[in-house]
Amino acid sequence: MTLPSFLANVAGVPAGLATLVEAVAGACSAIATAVERGVFDGACGNAHSENIHGEAQKKLDVVSNEIMISSVEQVSCLRGLASEELDSIQVIQHGRSADNPGYLLLFDPLDGSSNLEINGIVGSIFSVLAAPESGAEIDQSHFLQPGVKQVCAGYALYGATTMFVLTTGQGVDGFTFDGKSGAFVLTHPQIRIPESTREFSINMSNERFWDEPVRRYVRECVAGAAGPRHANFNMRWIASMVAEVHRILIRGGIFLYPRDSKNSQLAGRLRLTYEANPMSFIVEQAGGMSTTGGAPIMEIQPDQVHQRIPVILGSKLEVERLIQYHGETLTH
Ligand code: AHG
Ligand code: MN
Ligand code: MN
Repeated sequence: MTLPSFLANVAGVPAGLATLVEAVAGACSAIATAVERGVFDGACGNAHSENIHGEAQKKLDVVSNEIMISSVEQVSCLRGLASEELDSIQVIQHGRSADNPGYLLLFDPLDGSSNLEINGIVGSIFSVLAAPESGAEIDQSHFLQPGVKQVCAGYALYGATTMFVLTTGQGVDGFTFDGKSGAFVLTHPQIRIPESTREFSINMSNERFWDEPVRRYVRECVAGAAGPRHANFNMRWIASMVAEVHRILIRGGIFLYPRDSKNSQLAGRLRLTYEANPMSFIVEQAGGMSTTGGAPIMEIQPDQVHQRIPVILGSKLEVERLIQYHGETLTH
């Protein structure tokens, strides 16, 4: 079953939303080609510019952003978009209609782009919110909705195969790009994350900057069978959130990018509206859990489109343990 047929016949989403998701998926297959052909098209290396986070943009960050925008801006029900690679939101005038409030799209066009030069896994992440019903002029405030309000979220993964993973609030379904037919085909229906896991994922080089609950959790994992967990743990770090979340969806695990004191002026490394929220929606729809340590990520009221947030997500029992450790630190 292809993605358009899934959206119409299984997910049963409104036609406008289906058109928007198909346009995002179309952009993702074009981004996969841009990534694959980068070395031939002169699209490798740095763009010699910075995004709003002060991060050096790669040429492919910029190209992927342009591909996504040009693919979705023609969709009649899209009223505005926000991107990691755009300083401010972009309002789309034609998306305004009295009988259809339409949608807002938020995205990270290329996640994990530090992996590009090593031919590692990268991806794209997106979140869809409902636009205000009033038909009012769109402004930044309309994008500042907590994650629980998302109507749809997903990611594309550009790895050994290109995949598109989606939730519209009815579980999580995975599609693989079939280069022969040019279609995304349903290959991973109704993905469920195992409740328990013995695999964690964190950038260990930041250990000395973490808060005590995270240090305790990782210390206990590393202590293995001889430690308080009485079990040996495995560790993985791909430095691409899409790849980590995908692994967790397939075989379980826990991913942490907690707050750290290395950059104490920042609330975290990852961005709430176009990284943490869509990934949290997917993980929770697959039976997992997500938290900052102190609060469910999707209940946070954003105050900026580019806001950062600590992220802990994955298999339910491990996320619950981390919430408990954070609570115990607060009460002591
Ligand atoms: P982006 O490439 O969009 O800036 O995001 C990269 C993020 C995330 O995907 C990954 O988990 C994390 O940055 C990697 O951080 P480190 O470089 O600290 O490992
Ligand atoms: Mn990213
Ligand atoms: Mn990015």
